[in-house]
Amino acid sequence: MGRSTRGGLRGVRMVGAAMSKFGKMDRSMREEAAQTGLAALHRSGLDPAVVEEILVANAFGLVDHQGHLGPLIATSLGLEGAATATVESACASGGVALQLAYTSVASGHTDATLVVGVEKVSQVDSKTATTYFTYGSDVPFEAGCGATFPALYATLATAYLHKYGATEEQLAHVAVKNHKNALANPNAHLHKAISVEQVLKSPYVAWPLKFYDCCPFSDGAAAVLLVSEALAKAWGVGGVEVLGSGRGGSAAQLSTRASLVEIPGTRQAAAQAFSQAGLRPKDVDFAEVHDCFTIAEVLAIEDLGLVKKGKGAEAAVDGLTSLSGDLPVNPSGGLKAKGHPVGATGVGQAVEVFEQLDGRAGARQVKGAEVGLSHNIGATGGSCAVHVFRRV
Ligand SMILES: CC(C)(COP(=O)(O)OP(=O)(O)OC[C@H]1O[C@@H](n2cnc3c(N)ncnc32)[C@H](O)[C@@H]1OP(=O)(O)O)[C@@H](O)C(=O)NCCC(=O)NCCS
Repeated sequence: MGRSTRGGLRGVRMVGAAMSKFGKMDRSMREEAAQTGLAALHRSGLDPAVVEEILVANAFGLVDHQGHLGPLIATSLGLEGAATATVESACASGGVALQLAYTSVASGHTDATLVVGVEKVSQVDSKTATTYFTYGSDVPFEAGCGATFPALYATLATAYLHKYGATEEQLAHVAVKNHKNALANPNAHLHKAISVEQVLKSPYVAWPLKFYDCCPFSDGAAAVLLVSEALAKAWGVGGVEVLGSGRGGSAAQLSTRASLVEIPGTRQAAAQAFSQAGLRPKDVDFAEVHDCFTIAEVLAIEDLGLVKKGKGAEAAVDGLTSLSGDLPVNPSGGLKAKGHPVGATGVGQAVEVFEQLDGRAGARQVKGAEVGLSHNIGATGGSCAVHVFRRV
């Protein structure tokens, strides 16, 4: 197959994408993942037999008493001959799996890799899910000292509000925006408009973060098919170009970091992705970023270079990041309202980019979208993945 000029890497296209409704899932992970994988393959128009590899993103399979998901999902898809691997990188499992799939196809290792993200945690209550999720932190030094993820992000929020004089009200605007966007997304977990007042009056989970500053616990599945540009052309399908694919890391433990108002791994992943794409942050038309808590969206848009450092909290208030603004952020509703089924989250972001660049996002369509970005982080940014996509 042909090779592009980007550092000897081949051109890669995302040619199929699908997601389940996020929220509570009645089916098993295997059934939901297979159904969603089939939908992505069907959407691509390619013969499923082209798939050589299936990467499954999942973090908490054992909560549902099932590990080693790769062969199960491959077999359910009728693709038992495909090589499989399960990718666990906490909340970045999906984005990291996407980056590894990109590497497989761009390097010529495969011509077609299917990425399927899936998670099911609704069978346990919020308290138990909170405990499981803390296993993604540095357990002896964070979870072991009582720090849940709301508490760790509250630490980041406290540092940010203190350093930049930002306010809880500014953070509330992020939640209001993302809940509003999710109203136009039939697959979103939460379909509920909220006001700034409601956010501010909601109970504190970990000061200064309140109930509506948090994402919910969600189940769900998402799948995308990446193929070489040459294979896409041979089948006469367009799809979306994966122009840049980056990964980065940050110290696992917050207390060892030099700064609590930035995520180094996001900067590293973004630098890689933009350099590979030959684009700059100002070229991005919209972004799906990791907003597990409202403060996370603020940090993300700054670390991605989409707004200046210290200006992220103003972006939702000014309308810059609203659907009709100059830089829509999380048109899907984001993790905050579309939902956060951990393994499926980063893959679901790519699905939204696909829908947007294919012009099929309906009432939440970003007008004239040509370049989209996805950003997915694990825990407090210990692992990060950033992708830049362009309409073909
Ligand atoms: C905010 C949080 C504490 C709420 O948990 P809870 O009080 O047990 O809430 P419940 O699950 O009982 O849900 C109660 C209602 O609120 C809704 N809801 C739950 N979480 C919500 C959230 N974060 N935002 C908005 N609505 C939410 C539910 O859909 C439900 O609505 P319904 O009554 O109409 O069905 C919990 O969602 C949470 O801890 N979120 C953070 C998850 C997390 O840390 N993820 C990892 C990120 S790194």
